[in-house]
Amino acid sequence: MPVHLRAEPGHYAPNVLCPGDPVRATYIAQKFFDDVEHVNAERGMHGYTGTFNGEPISVQTTGMGCPSSGIVFEELAMLGAQRLIRVGTCGGLQDGMTMGDTVIGVSASADDTTPLRYADMAGYAPTASFGLAATAVTRSAASGTNVHVGPIVTSGLFYDPDPNTFARWKRLGHLGVEMEAAMMYTIANVKGIESLAMMTVSDLLADDGSTERISDAELKAGVDRMMEIACEVAVS
Ligand code: HPA
Repeated sequence: MPVHLRAEPGHYAPNVLCPGDPVRATYIAQKFFDDVEHVNAERGMHGYTGTFNGEPISVQTTGMGCPSSGIVFEELAMLGAQRLIRVGTCGGLQDGMTMGDTVIGVSASADDTTPLRYADMAGYAPTASFGLAATAVTRSAASGTNVHVGPIVTSGLFYDPDPNTFARWKRLGHLGVEMEAAMMYTIANVKGIESLAMMTVSDLLADDGSTERISDAELKAGVDRMMEIACEVAVS
């Protein structure tokens, strides 16, 4: 039994959805899963196992940032996870993005030292599993969701004192910023398991460093749209 996920092999399904927020983990299990079992509550990092369309599936909270989420991704791999799907939010960086859009991160630049320390290679490029990204793109297009597919950036800072950071990330083509995907991609690649990060745009980040935040109602609608697709990708 690992230190933070107080579960045994077999308590989690091979396919695990990974939100940062424990409240969202409980919401996902209640709204999208059948036959739900609560498999972890340690440190309030709730985890649940159930079924989606008759297939086994789990959801496990990661907490915020690479150090917290890295512990959870590592322990999920120890417990037999074969596929990790991060379901979170991101700040949108490119022109033409709107609140509630879905972002699929094909790669996650590490603007945080934790994934690179784990990879032990300075220029390492944390990358999603192509098959999962392709499935997510196909399903999103079929659902009519507004979806953006491309590179994202994983930051160690939510509150960055430098007003030029958003423009610097945008110049390199990043679609959005979040705080966990590069850690997940690195650990999944080292362990030889699959992973993909899907995010709902919850903030719009301007070149001058200013931010605009989504309303609670828009966020819920955007997350629900993304979750239908994420559950299908998880069990595909
Ligand atoms: N920065 C980092 N992570 C985020 C943001 C952001 O603006 N919005 C949602 N996750």
